[in-house]
Order: sequence, then C-alpha cells, then structure tokens
Amino acid sequence: MIEKVNIPEISQKHLHGIKDLTVDDINKILELSNFFKLNNREKDKNYPILKGRTIINLFFEPSTRTLISFEIAAKRLGADVINMNIEGSSLRKGESLQDTANTLGAMNPDLVVIRHGIDNATKQISEILSCPVINAGEGINEHPTQALLDAYTIINNERNLENITVAICGDLEHSRVARSNYYLLKKMKSNVRFVYPEFFKPKDLDKYDVETFTNLEKGITDADIVMMLRIQNERISDMKLPSKESYFEKFGLTYKKLKLAKPDALVLHPGPINRNVEIEDSLADDIDKSVINEQVENGVAVRMACLSIMVK
Ligand code: NCD
Repeated sequence: MIEKVNIPEISQKHLHGIKDLTVDDINKILELSNFFKLNNREKDKNYPILKGRTIINLFFEPSTRTLISFEIAAKRLGADVINMNIEGSSLRKGESLQDTANTLGAMNPDLVVIRHGIDNATKQISEILSCPVINAGEGINEHPTQALLDAYTIINNERNLENITVAICGDLEHSRVARSNYYLLKKMKSNVRFVYPEFFKPKDLDKYDVETFTNLEKGITDADIVMMLRIQNERISDMKLPSKESYFEKFGLTYKKLKLAKPDALVLHPGPINRNVEIEDSLADDIDKSVINEQVENGVAVRMACLSIMVK
C-alpha cells in the first residue's frame, strides 16, 4: 500500500477552464498527479479517499477515453460514480438543461463532470448545482483536464515547460484542446505556435499571443513538442474540406516532416486519431516518438488529482 498524500487546496471551486487557474494551482495538480501515477502502477489501485461520495458524469457529447478515464479515476478513489447517458435521458423528451441540472442537484451529488457541445454550458449548470463541477470539454471553449494531462506528459518526459517550443497543429478553429493548452502553456512560459491550414484559421485568433504558421513543415521546425489535433468533423457544417489524402499530404505529420523538429521532439495527440489523415499510422504507434498512450495513462492520474482536490 502506497503512503498517504496531502490533498492541496486550489483557488477555484469549479474547474471550468485553465484560464481561471493560477500557476500555483497548476503546479499543485501536476504534483499530486505524480502521486496517483505511482498509485496506478501498484497492484492494488484503490486509494479510497472519496468513499461514500457520489460523482455524476453528465456527458452530452460522445466520448470514449475522457468518460472512461473519469470513471476509472472516481472508482479508484472509492466514489460511487454514475454515468448519465443523454441518449436515454429525459433531455430526449424535451426537458431543459436547467430542469435536468435541478433534478440531478436534488440527488445531492458531490461533484458533476460535464461534457457539452455549447461554450459555457458548465458555467450555466454550475449556477444551478451547489456542488463543484469539472468541465470535461465544452464546445470550442476549453478542455482543462486534457491540457493538464498533456502538460503532465511533457514534464514526465523530462522536459521543462519553461522556454520549450510547442507547435499545436491542425484544426485550431474548432479545438477546445488547443485553447486549454494555449492558456496552460503561456502561464508556464512556453513558446506556443499555432500551425493550421488557412481553412482552419481560428476566428478568435486575435485573442492569442502566438506565432502562427500555415505551413506544417515551417511550423514544426525546431519544435520540442508537436501536438497534433483531430479534425472536428462534428463541428464543421458548411466548410469545404479537402480530401483526406490531400489533407494528409499537406497537413498530416509523417516521419519525414518530423525530422524538421528537434531530434528528440515528442508527438502528442488527444485522440481519437484519424490515422493517415492527421498523423502517419506507424508514427502514432512509435513509442520512441509518440507519447499518445502515455497521455491516456496519465489522464487517469491527473483526473484522480482533480477529483480529490475538487470534492470537498
Ligand atoms: C478531445 C475532445 O473531445 O475535445 N478528445 C478527448 O477528450 N480525448 C479531442 C477530440 O475529440 O478531438
């Protein structure tokens, strides 16, 4: 059995976004994640400090890794966890978001994890509930636990966030992952580049203090970290996209293009991956270059850290 750890306090009741966190908050979460990463490699992974607590995963958008990651995290901490399936819920019968939130609130959960397609949905829901909420990805706004697990993965690979160059590449326009990573990396003093084809230029680009590139080769040159993004097809309605083949040719990451980055550059992708569209198949699985599976493992530890800090 692993030793006991002190659970720190952070400045926020809710985890709406990285934007609200201080550097100190981020460091506390990342440090506690280290403890849970070790815990999760033990045979007995139970660390039941949330025994008797109820956590609801309220997911209005499809999810595999984030939902399972939050569920495993809650279970390893000993909480009772309920996954609310929107397809089978009263929202399908026309119930409003407010009424669903009120109903869930009446069941006294200790924390609600929310994924939603609309920016600021978690703020709206948190105004109705009396317990803390964690944003598990909303609209194109933020996905804070993804940025925390990405930062943790970078640090865990012996990189110091300060002064490294991180190229965030692909569908910048629709990516909440990119936005949360931007806020986190800037707070930690990394150099951030946005690398996107012209048709994925973010509409709110003037909000970000970044170097921009519309050519992948140039954008990843000498980068320490190459973070690829998924094309958010579900958020693209009227835009004419090139064929998968031509996207891959111009904007897909290949071994050949990766040679332009630092020799020891790490490749990240939040998943799910469109293989041979965003990234060359074999490169995604190459554990000497890609840390995609480590991101998934670290996600559980980071979410255990967030849950144990947020549940009061
Ligand atoms: C991300 C999301 O949902 O925003 N996925 C995830 O949480 N692992 C990225 C994506 O879907 O492209």
